[in-house]
Amino acid sequence: MAKPFHLAMFTSFNMPAWRGPWAGEAADDWWTGDYHISLIKQMERAGFDFIMFEDSTYVGEHYGGSTEVSLKHPLGVPKMDPFPLLPILARETKHIGLIATGSSTFYPPYILARVMATMDHLTGGRVGWNVVTSSEDIAAQNYGIDKLLDHDERYDMADEFVEVVKALWDSWEPDAIVQDRENGVWGDHTKVHTIDHVGTYFKVRGPLNFPAGPQGHPVICQAGGSEKGRALAAKHANAIVATNPRVEYLTEYRADIRARAEAYGRDPDEVKVLFQVSPVLAETDEAAKELYEQRFELRDPLQAERTLAGISGTTEIDFSQFDLDEPFPQDLTTNGHQSILDDWMRRNKGKTLRQAISERTQFGPPLYGTNATVADQLEAIADATGGDGFLFMFPTTRRYIDEVCSGLAPELRRRGLIREDYPHATFKENLLAF
Ligand SMILES: Cc1cc2nc3c(=O)[nH]c(=O)nc-3n(C[C@H](O)[C@H](O)[C@H](O)COP(=O)(O)O)c2cc1C
Repeated sequence: MAKPFHLAMFTSFNMPAWRGPWAGEAADDWWTGDYHISLIKQMERAGFDFIMFEDSTYVGEHYGGSTEVSLKHPLGVPKMDPFPLLPILARETKHIGLIATGSSTFYPPYILARVMATMDHLTGGRVGWNVVTSSEDIAAQNYGIDKLLDHDERYDMADEFVEVVKALWDSWEPDAIVQDRENGVWGDHTKVHTIDHVGTYFKVRGPLNFPAGPQGHPVICQAGGSEKGRALAAKHANAIVATNPRVEYLTEYRADIRARAEAYGRDPDEVKVLFQVSPVLAETDEAAKELYEQRFELRDPLQAERTLAGISGTTEIDFSQFDLDEPFPQDLTTNGHQSILDDWMRRNKGKTLRQAISERTQFGPPLYGTNATVADQLEAIADATGGDGFLFMFPTTRRYIDEVCSGLAPELRRRGLIREDYPHATFKENLLAF
């Protein structure tokens, strides 16, 4: 039997499905956080370890050279800042981890360190930070930057950024608060230190103006796939998320990350590698197969356009210029998610664009069936890869959340494959417990 694994959900603070038979009221009640509150409660009941909010700050206009398609579907918009949402979700739950994305290219490290530490206090030690370098010049232009640094240099900058943030979290020694009421001394000034960081990209004096929260260093999450991205993840992260349909890739990826973590002097078990999945669930395997084909074969031209516009957004390549039913060029380059683009082109050589995006839409290995069938598949993948768990995504409807939380997760729990409870106080302790 496979060892128990972790479950997580990948989403955005954006509008869930707004049309289709299961959209319900979510398009109206997400603005206040209500949709995500119902989601997080379901997830905690089911034994999920965390929710992860990706983020970006642009309105896409690379597909067809216009924002039309981004607004029409809509795609990437509307998307609000996930940071203020986390403490709200924490108030509605007791244990589940809450991760939001903060860009090392756009945030000043002092603000990021301060916001994360504040949230760690507000949530009793349940937050995490997804470190990204961002990939779009049109986002950079919102921060006074005309053009992003090159992909690899962004990772050099991210590494320095994380080092600064950690130093700020460490700028108060654990016993800096004495709270000696008798002698009227609250804090010991000899235990609060400037960091005096002067590096290639940042100059930060410190200290933080309050001590770090219950986790000390909140959980760090990362999703790098390139050489530099993997190095950053292995050096700093506790939760690493990877996306690829091939189980062999995922096996290699996890082994590589663990070896790199060890080379950095870390215990590789402090690094949990979760694989992105989007299983299609139904009452019978046949019904699930039919749904799977409907969802991913992209016969619906609107769905195909939406998928292509999404790829255009993160690569800044105009995919509207290629014929959907012809093979597409194999020499595309981007300053954005290059490792994902390279791997996708390599695997889809000779296929038409429609076939290639069908695979891309699935986020992970093809999985469909009843709860029992999909539980078998997840168990087999975890066994084969040594994987630490799965990051679910798509589609964003209350129905899908319920399918996963009330159907699949209980099946996994019956098999002893996921947690029964949350024995520790903080997110990080629970995540690293197995
Ligand atoms: C599950 C997952 C979540 C991600 N979330 C974000 C995000 O919120 N914002 C962002 O700019 N990039 C995000 N990325 C992109 C990664 O940070 C990274 O750039 C990408 O995986 C390519 O790796 P590379 O940069 O090492 O080539 C995400 C990637 C994955 C697989």
